[in-house]
Amino acid sequence: MRPAIIVHGGAWDIPPDMREAHLQGCSRAVEEGYALLSQGRSALDAVEAAVRLMEDDPTFDAGRGSFLNSDGEVELDAIIMEGDELRTGAVAAVQHILHPISLARAVMDRTQHCLLVGDGALRFARSIEMDTVEVPELLTCRELERWKAIRAEKAFEQRDVFEDAVTRYKRKGTVGAVALDSKGTIAAATSTGGTPNKLAGRVGDSPLIGCGNYADSRIAGVSVTGWGESIMKVVLAKRVCDNMERGMRPYEAGAEAIAYLKARVDGLAGVIVLARDGDMAHAFNTPHMAMACIDGQGRKKASL
Ligand code: GLY
Repeated sequence: MRPAIIVHGGAWDIPPDMREAHLQGCSRAVEEGYALLSQGRSALDAVEAAVRLMEDDPTFDAGRGSFLNSDGEVELDAIIMEGDELRTGAVAAVQHILHPISLARAVMDRTQHCLLVGDGALRFARSIEMDTVEVPELLTCRELERWKAIRAEKAFEQRDVFEDAVTRYKRKGTVGAVALDSKGTIAAATSTGGTPNKLAGRVGDSPLIGCGNYADSRIAGVSVTGWGESIMKVVLAKRVCDNMERGMRPYEAGAEAIAYLKARVDGLAGVIVLARDGDMAHAFNTPHMAMACIDGQGRKKASL
């Protein structure tokens, strides 16, 4: 099996002055993941490493630079899944963690559970001696200014974050990666800071299995970005996988699921899809979706 990997850096109305940073961030992440796959490392290692790079990059709504919630706190969601045995680990509404994707992996590898939330997730991180950080390390000045602007605007709508044609705030998006390794294993990972000014304790689609992420090595892997409250209602990632199982190719499978999301709940999202034969695609109904991929022949593509 020839390794392949695809990553995304959010789907929304990305303004011209932020496009280069999104392309660069996605390119760096996909190259990091592909380098590990080329050394024979696992799809899990590749998606974790790719997502960690994007969690470090304040261009994206994940890890450092994430949106603030209504209390002015950073609460993060992440999930990782390997498709051989359908093992998964996730964390939600966790604070003080720079790399929630690695905490999600530890939940998968080191507990009997699939999802830990809030203070329990943080206590687990401390119990395995994972580094914790204070809010200033996760916070950027830009996020503080955005938070103040949103708080001043009474009619702020969460959905506008993804579609608003008038860029009132510089926004950002969820990150994710799907990889196929030389053994034929597919893994998928998704990490997010959620939506700006979300209520404390709000959890979106990203850490929910089948909603923001899914991987089955017999079929495909999927990572999702977009408006979580719409995505989780239609269990979007699993719908894409089910479409693949019914014989659709990756673009068709993603596009059908996005069309259903739009028709059923007026949702907004983007998906990346990587099939077990290495074929891959992305589909979205937002103005832009940041992505990069490297296929089985080592050919790289990045687009917005
Ligand atoms: N899709 C990210 C979120 O809504 O939290």
